[in-house]
Amino acid sequence: MYEEELAFANELADRAGAIGLSYFRGSFEVHEKADRTPVTEADLAIEAAMRAAVRERYPGDGVLGEEGGEEGDATRRWVVDPIDGTKNFADGVQIWSNLIALEVDGEPVVGVVNLPALDERYEAARGGGARLNGEPIHVSRADRIPRAFVVFAGMEDWRTGEYADGVQALVAEARRNRGFGDAWGHCLVARGSADVMVELELATWDFAALKVLVEEAGGRISQFDGSPLAHGGTVLTTNGTLHDEVVARLAGRPAAR
Ligand code: IPD
Ligand code: CA
Ligand code: CA
Repeated sequence: MYEEELAFANELADRAGAIGLSYFRGSFEVHEKADRTPVTEADLAIEAAMRAAVRERYPGDGVLGEEGGEEGDATRRWVVDPIDGTKNFADGVQIWSNLIALEVDGEPVVGVVNLPALDERYEAARGGGARLNGEPIHVSRADRIPRAFVVFAGMEDWRTGEYADGVQALVAEARRNRGFGDAWGHCLVARGSADVMVELELATWDFAALKVLVEEAGGRISQFDGSPLAHGGTVLTTNGTLHDEVVARLAGRPAAR
């Protein structure tokens, strides 16, 4: 299902990746947005190209993008983040992606995560499995937190606040941890390299593509309390097997004996 839309999402990713790389390997301006986060020339150029391509190919569909907001009012909506990991991009670190999803009736059905500087393209459509550079991917089989590799965006989110104790306990119990943030951390779980990824706050354009990818790879993605993803909420991605146990640990419940 949605093969045509997935092919189109890959076309968008080709274009987005080419524009992004041309800036990344050259020079670009960085500005501060009203929310004090950075945006580069590349973010704006990519989102403009994505919007133009959707308008031409699927004029009846809506678009939600991080930089340009909501356009159109449709049951089918393309949800895009032109560059996820803008701070990495601006610092010259290769871990940044173009995120593209199609939602139908509010549910993501197609997801592409394109990391051109790493030469990695993750893609999934509902019911069709998940792939990395054309090869099927699947989550890990880790079945206990002491066997798990936990990834997270950065330490600053877990020093204080509601989830500091839970995340610190999870990391302490896990086999291994690393700070590999942005969409790529969730991709590591989808492909079975890592087992758990936690993020404090994500927007719809951050998680829409990831939801299809992770679920099609056999994993689970939810808020920290196990409830469905919501704009501005927490995001927990796991290999599925570990999900309930991690939800319990994040809520402060100890390991079952
Ligand atoms: C950021 C990434 C990151 C998340 C931040 C976002 P951006 O997106 O998604 O994983 O922790 O909250 O702002 O700004 O690089 O597109
Ligand atoms: Ca983002
Ligand atoms: Ca962005």
